[in-house]
Amino acid sequence: MVYRIQEVSEKLQVKKSTIRFWETEFSDIVRPKRTNGGQRRYSEQDISKLHKIKNLLRHRNRTIAQARIILKQGNADVGEIDWTKQSILVTGGTGSFGKHFCKIMLEKYHPKVIRIYSRDELKQHEMRQKFGEEKLRYFIGDVRDVERLKRAMEGVDIVVHAAALKQVPACEYNPFEAVKTNIYGAQNIIDAAIDIGVKKVVALSTDKAVNPVNLYGATKLCSDKIFIHGNSYSGQKRTRFSCVRYGNVIGSRGSVIPLFMQQKKNGRITITDERMTRFWLTLDQAVELVINAFCLMQGGEIFVPKIPSMKVTDLAKAVAPECEIEIIGIRPGEKIHEVLITEEDGRNTVAYNGIYVIMPNLSWWERQNYKTGQRLPEGFVYISNTNDEWLNVEDLKRIVYGSSMVEEDMASRLLSTIHQLEEPKTPHYHLATN
Ligand SMILES: NC(=O)c1ccc[n+]([C@@H]2O[C@H](COP(=O)([O-])OP(=O)(O)OC[C@H]3O[C@@H](n4cnc5c(N)ncnc54)[C@H](OP(=O)(O)O)[C@@H]3O)[C@@H](O)[C@H]2O)c1
Repeated sequence: MVYRIQEVSEKLQVKKSTIRFWETEFSDIVRPKRTNGGQRRYSEQDISKLHKIKNLLRHRNRTIAQARIILKQGNADVGEIDWTKQSILVTGGTGSFGKHFCKIMLEKYHPKVIRIYSRDELKQHEMRQKFGEEKLRYFIGDVRDVERLKRAMEGVDIVVHAAALKQVPACEYNPFEAVKTNIYGAQNIIDAAIDIGVKKVVALSTDKAVNPVNLYGATKLCSDKIFIHGNSYSGQKRTRFSCVRYGNVIGSRGSVIPLFMQQKKNGRITITDERMTRFWLTLDQAVELVINAFCLMQGGEIFVPKIPSMKVTDLAKAVAPECEIEIIGIRPGEKIHEVLITEEDGRNTVAYNGIYVIMPNLSWWERQNYKTGQRLPEGFVYISNTNDEWLNVEDLKRIVYGSSMVEEDMASRLLSTIHQLEEPKTPHYHLATN
């Protein structure tokens, strides 16, 4: 069956002149046949494409250029970002991730400006001394304070949300505080970003948010859900929210390597359970994942890196081969193995350009995205004990004691981390932090 332009105009409720204009602009997408006399004849397929064009331009507020890309590739937002034109806000900018993000951004990507947002003036002062002020601005503020966030986001294009309470015991002992920072804080970021018109927000998640067994993980799971579904609130503003989710960061504040180094001095290392395995990544990998997520994101994805696992016993052997190991038993809130992708998430996940992308179940989501991504086999799960990539004792030694092959200044960074640490108050929780 074919239709005349008048019929198409009535079906779509669009003027004939507009249809002709769209045909010129989208000539490689909509090409109605012509009669011998030059009259247009539209197939059902042509009408469906015109429908999509109308939807993109009129309802989704896309430009013609964006609509062209969406119709051809499925995603207008995927692509390179010109970082030199971006103003960035990093909540938790003085933390392990935030500082390293700033370092890599300043060295490699040269953004217009980076705003650091956190509570403690001392950490900001130390950072100012190290990084200077040329491209960094320091905002004292709490993610619980939405008005302050709005002020800090004025003129900002991109937000990295890294601020969190992340120590498992601290969150268990101060549950209301964990909820206020990790959950209400997430809501405030979304409200402020939409009101101010920020373009893209990436929030940092953790493997502890998957099948959570402690309050830290549970608050991060809520935060992930809030960010994914926060996309539904943005309407005409078109602010987009996505998450990245990863496991333990080697050498970050309060993590297990600095703790083992500390315990090593006494000749004895404590491990909660010999079977324990964890996912590992370096700060460099975490930062590059976030940068990559900004380039790929359409909104609503959770980006998960492909990273190796290690056995905690191997780590102990690498850090302190000469030390006695004491097994002290698994603690509340700790898991033997960590999960990054559950079987349920796996059904909605694709392997894409060396990472996993968990796609959202949102009705408005342009499902053609990640067209070249590979669907995962039914039953796929990503768990630290069944991972097919492992770090052995030698790899871990290189990481801990420094090697240009792994990460140039890991050893010195670890040592400086150790110097910043106070005596650990609850050593048995050492793996339950991130
Ligand atoms: N480290 C890991 O192994 C790991 C693994 C997976 C995921 N993650 C996630 O990655 C993110 C960053 O972790 P990280 O290792 O960089 O943490 P971190 O070193 O503990 O840094 C946390 C940062 O958040 C700030 N902050 C805390 N509460 C705040 C609040 N209410 N308002 C504003 N700023 C606040 C802190 O500064 P002030 O105290 O001065 O406010 C600090 O700058 C977190 O979301 C964490 O859940 C970490």
